[in-house]
Amino acid sequence: MDIDTGAGIGATRRRPGPSGHSRTSPRRRLRAVLAVGAVATAATTAGALVMAGPASAASTLRSAAEASGHYFGTALTQSNLSNSTLTGVASAQFDMVTPGNEMKWDTTEPSNGSYNFGPGDQIVAWAKANNDRVRGHNLVWHSQLPSWVSSLPLNQVQAAMEAHITTEATHYKGQVYSWDVVNEPFNDDGTPRQDVFYNAFGGVGYIADAIKTAHAADPNAKLYINDYNIEGSGAKSNAMYSLAQSLLSAGVPLNGIGFESHFILGQIPSDMQSNMQRFASLGLDVAVTELDDRIQLPASTANLQQQATDFSNVVKDCLGVSRCVGVTQWGVGDADSWIPGFFSGYGAATMFDNNYQPKPSFNAALAALGGGATTPPSSNPPSTTPPSSAPPSTTPPSTTPPGGCHVADVINAWNTGLTSNLTITNNGSTAINGWKLAFTLPSGQSITSVWNATVTPSSGVVTATNLSYNATITANGGTTTLGFNANQTGNAGAPTSFTLNGTACSVS
Ligand code: G3I
Repeated sequence: MDIDTGAGIGATRRRPGPSGHSRTSPRRRLRAVLAVGAVATAATTAGALVMAGPASAASTLRSAAEASGHYFGTALTQSNLSNSTLTGVASAQFDMVTPGNEMKWDTTEPSNGSYNFGPGDQIVAWAKANNDRVRGHNLVWHSQLPSWVSSLPLNQVQAAMEAHITTEATHYKGQVYSWDVVNEPFNDDGTPRQDVFYNAFGGVGYIADAIKTAHAADPNAKLYINDYNIEGSGAKSNAMYSLAQSLLSAGVPLNGIGFESHFILGQIPSDMQSNMQRFASLGLDVAVTELDDRIQLPASTANLQQQATDFSNVVKDCLGVSRCVGVTQWGVGDADSWIPGFFSGYGAATMFDNNYQPKPSFNAALAALGGGATTPPSSNPPSTTPPSSAPPSTTPPSTTPPGGCHVADVINAWNTGLTSNLTITNNGSTAINGWKLAFTLPSGQSITSVWNATVTPSSGVVTATNLSYNATITANGGTTTLGFNANQTGNAGAPTSFTLNGTACSVS
């Protein structure tokens, strides 16, 4: 256990203090059922909860986040996967997965040169099956580091570190959205943590070396440094900022900074947004990577309301920074959170209670994302900006291979609008690199916002085009998802005449 890490975590500076019917396509998949289930539950739990609206555009964290080009993630461990209540919520609410422990050095290379990717592979497989992406976590960290590494002669550490990074990042090449390449390199006072890597390199030079090594193994993964207690400005955050500046000026392929965000109730730093913005202004992505908000137990109703405010503020802080790509909660619910095991007397730190029922913080986070309201999502400003790290691709579409394509369409509609979530399956035997999905919208429908694609025009025969991060649909059953919100005037029917790169697709 990382006592140092756990005990030190906690911010010190605080903030001042529809109507209409619902129609759901019978073609909905399991996730849609679970999503609506979670919302229905929200309405029946704890009177303090705000009623979520009818099956609307953004009744889940993932759909609400995707509507503005973000993700909402969770941490999952191998043992979590056998809890169907937990995975049901994870599947419905989250679209990014961080393995809680399964990609750390003590699991992946428990003895020198002997690798074990089974547990991490299970998490990746679950994520893929649920159309989620994966944040790789982590490659170099002083904690959960097997003793064979920390007891190596210092002149052997660099080779061991590079071999570990190369082997693990190559194993997961193309399967992870990002890597926390270096985790928690600073002490709380901003001095570098003097672990075996620091000692072997005689300074923080190991960080540049680690990032370059990871980049060589997986050039498409976003490479992060991740730490806690850097969410507000201060000595530790300033140290991270200086490090980021010097790495970038040296040409090191650093892509982002992860702000773990293990908060104490009511202590979200008031300058979190401006602090993240200064990193973004360097040309880096930023992400909230391990959010939780611990409460001294038992949690009162007032505590839960304060937690709702805290989660809302963190989500808004991220949305307020154009290069903040998403928020990840550390765990799915209070029952699987690390907090009670590390902070005696504390818990209730997540958006779902011990029975995986949504708490006020769930509705607050959803509302901050623009979802879950009693008004249809057309009242939310539609996103016209793709994720900063994912400009629209200019890749010319390849020919759709023999075997064709399939489009599964899940529609949630209300009296004046609808949400359509589309899953494209490539049944061909060659990968598609660059895609255009054309389809005909029913009369009266007009698209107001879109995620995981660009769409033009907004009505009639429209074409959805991939973004850079989802240009490839792998062969033999590979899938990608996109979706849109649309206004409608009484015909909430599904689009017709789907073609992928000019080839007709089957539809269900
Ligand atoms: O696997 C062993 C098991 O065999 C043994 O019986 C049991 C007895 O305690 O321990 C199990 O290992 C535990 C491991 O989680 C897997 O469950 C360790 O004791 C425990 O220390 C470890 O805790 C993890 C912690 O990192 C270690 O620092 C937490 O699950 C994990 O959520 C937490 O995650 C970290 C991030 O990676 C980095 N940022 C902080 C965050 C919270 O500490």
